[in-house]
Amino acid sequence: MTTTDYAPPEERERWGSRIGLILAMAGNAVGLGNFLRFPNQAAQNGQGAFMVAYFISLLLLGIPLMWMEWGIGRRGGHFGFSTCPGMFQSLTRAKWVKFAGAIGVVMPLLIVIYYVYIESWTLGYAVQSATGVLTGDDPAAHFKRYLGDGGGFLGFESLQGSWEAYGFFGITIAVNLWVLSRGLSKGIEVIAKIGMPILLLCAVALVARVLSLPDVDGRTALDGLAIYWDPSQWKALFDNALAEDLFGRTSAIIWLAAAGQIFFTLSVGSGAINTYASYVKRDEDVALTGLATVSTNEFCEVILGGTLAIPAAYVFTGMSGVMEGSGSNMGLAFITMPDVFEQIPLFGQASGVAILGTLWFGLLFVAGITSSLALSQPTMAFFQDTMGLTRRKSAMVVGAIILIFVQPVILMEGVLDEIDYWAGTFGLVFFSTIEVILFMWVFGAGNAWKEIHLGSDIRIPRIFKFIMTWVTPIVLLLMLYTWGKDVALEVLQFRDNPNGDPYTEAGKVGAYVGRTLMITLFAFFVVMVGVAARRGRFKRVEHLQPEDSA
Ligand code: ALA
Repeated sequence: MTTTDYAPPEERERWGSRIGLILAMAGNAVGLGNFLRFPNQAAQNGQGAFMVAYFISLLLLGIPLMWMEWGIGRRGGHFGFSTCPGMFQSLTRAKWVKFAGAIGVVMPLLIVIYYVYIESWTLGYAVQSATGVLTGDDPAAHFKRYLGDGGGFLGFESLQGSWEAYGFFGITIAVNLWVLSRGLSKGIEVIAKIGMPILLLCAVALVARVLSLPDVDGRTALDGLAIYWDPSQWKALFDNALAEDLFGRTSAIIWLAAAGQIFFTLSVGSGAINTYASYVKRDEDVALTGLATVSTNEFCEVILGGTLAIPAAYVFTGMSGVMEGSGSNMGLAFITMPDVFEQIPLFGQASGVAILGTLWFGLLFVAGITSSLALSQPTMAFFQDTMGLTRRKSAMVVGAIILIFVQPVILMEGVLDEIDYWAGTFGLVFFSTIEVILFMWVFGAGNAWKEIHLGSDIRIPRIFKFIMTWVTPIVLLLMLYTWGKDVALEVLQFRDNPNGDPYTEAGKVGAYVGRTLMITLFAFFVVMVGVAARRGRFKRVEHLQPEDSA
């Protein structure tokens, strides 16, 4: 390789400090998934049995994929690439891989389109808690009004969206774009350094309050924890009849839900980890830092996230309340929790919703923004690297895409669920499969192992080489096979929606719109990759020398 063939490290953005990198990566992983999605998934999909499947998935899929993505990302960065099309091309000469890499740019963008919208609800609710608007209001009615459900500001029954929701969305997207346009060290890293400690403080304060709750009708917070910390029903993972009987779910659904949560919460399989990892130096450790990312995320998810919504809801509303809240979309966070806070007296006030609600929704907002920045960065970097746009211009283009494509998400029933299903659930498994095969099989297990250990502060136990080479891809392929066999036709033919229920008429229209939107964006990025390739943006890798591929 000639030195002019790839962008020298000094021309690329870099993380300002190791602590900044660790916090930014933790911020990338720790998000709404930890505090909002995890309790819902655990309660609905097998509770203690879910947790057994969850930890197995963490070990066999989550941790191996995290290391692989750090490895792929750092290697790509060395060749001047910040996104998956170039990164994949740095693993092999096969030309098609850069088009597969386009998925790693489109998917985080698709996720961020609806993620920022939900993040904006948390901002709206934090402000409304702090200003007392939530105090004394009926949480269910308030949530419905906030979203303009069915009687939205356009006045049509099938369209949703209120000016309130719209306004907070505008503020949220503006803050995201402003941070992104400031770049890595002056933008994302600063927000992570401020945000992560605030997040931890809010979470610890809330956990302390939940654990010190007095019992209500004999129900304690510890009983609430036992809902999902009791693994005694693990047999349901291998016994369909038992699983149906206990949890109303097949064993396969419990496994898929647990694995799906691992993907979503760790941000693996989306391309977002790869992009952040591309900004580390060639010989900077990724093995220990990757593990630190997983550990921080799991602490925030199972210890902090798990000790908030479910136990608090259990004390005040019992098991039926937990199941009802977690079963309805976002109900646990936006309806049950304000309801619970309303019943907790604090500092002599009749209700704690103003203080606890501000902490809760503030925590969610911080968790959300550090993740939405990470999910936006691949698209930012793609436009900068392949089209030569400046950071500012790139942020404007990303903003424009989000603003256009979020309209159906805000206005139409079913679009959000559809995108969440294809990009935020199925897509993560699909894209991870491509990554594992490319890294462990095409690039080669030996090379991959060496790549991850370059400059590493720890040696990963050798058993993981076997897991990454055999177990992870086989489990992923099995998941795709099960999906293809049991679910694909139902969903593709619009028979059942992603939640397994029949589509409503409006939901079906939303699903069509969601799919059209996703295909359009994917096609756009495939064309962009093609254009960039013709301009020689990936040319440098075609000069890869044998010694570089080790
Ligand atoms: N990993 C991020 C979350 O958990 C996307 O929300």
